[in-house]
Amino acid sequence: MSVQGPQQVLELAKVSRTFGEGATAVAALREVDLSISAGEFVAVMGPSGSGKSSLLALAGGLDRPTSGGVFVESTPLGGLGLNELARLRRRAVGYVFQDFNFVPTLTAAENVALPLELDGTATRKAQRQALDALRQVGIPELADRFMDQMSGGQQQRVAIARAIVGDRRLILADEPTGALDSTTGHGVMEVLRGRADAGAAVMLVPHEARRPQPSACNTGATQARFRPMLMALLIAVPLTGAALAWLFTWARLPVSRREVGT
Ligand SMILES: Nc1ncnc2c1ncn2[C@@H]1O[C@H](COP(=O)(O)OP(=O)(O)OP(=O)(O)O)[C@@H](O)[C@H]1O
Ligand SMILES: [Mg+2]
Repeated sequence: MSVQGPQQVLELAKVSRTFGEGATAVAALREVDLSISAGEFVAVMGPSGSGKSSLLALAGGLDRPTSGGVFVESTPLGGLGLNELARLRRRAVGYVFQDFNFVPTLTAAENVALPLELDGTATRKAQRQALDALRQVGIPELADRFMDQMSGGQQQRVAIARAIVGDRRLILADEPTGALDSTTGHGVMEVLRGRADAGAAVMLVPHEARRPQPSACNTGATQARFRPMLMALLIAVPLTGAALAWLFTWARLPVSRREVGT
């Protein structure tokens, strides 16, 4: 099934995010410019605390920038009210959280179907799509299990099913393979890459994100591209405009056919 949508799915324009104030303020992101188009598969790299999760939260409308603009399919998130923002997130954005964020009283299938149902999809259709998503991540047999009856890795796969269910144009995944063995993790990466091949924009923080020399991604799909971004530099070092331009020019280079180091 192909995902329809405009070419540029996500744009961040001079986005900064500062937590706290005064002497204790933490600048998690400083003037980040980034755009991701349909079909792109982008990895965010950097050490712990460098702002990877903050970046994904802003891109998905879960947090608001201190300054700058976030656009999803050309819609400025800053101009949306809470209800409009929630609707756009349910329709267009699939999000895999670092700590899952399930509704514990729902089963796996119900958790996956929830965003569809909240958006008005009939229960039976939503359940059918949820089961299909669970099948794609290899755990259809766990559809009726409650979340606390599953292992960490199984929960992680439910989280990914929830992010890919329906035709989300933007998929944001924060360490989606962190709790998985390498074979299962590889399968999950293939599922996410498949969404990019179908036309979604995928941005993820890979499990290897904190390695100083990431061994990168297999970008076997023709459209998929891998863009390592040295987030630490954006945060720790006040870069000049020229250096930033260089960084992103370099980061945009497609790097194909490299293997995931699992
Ligand atoms: N809600 C918050 N309140 C205050 N500071 C925060 C908050 N969220 C993040 N930070 C700070 O912002 C910085 C970036 O955090 P973030 O979680 O984005 O890092 P990360 O790159 O995802 O790290 P990790 O690899 O450990 O997941 C850190 O210094 C963190 O302490
Ligand atoms: Mg994080």
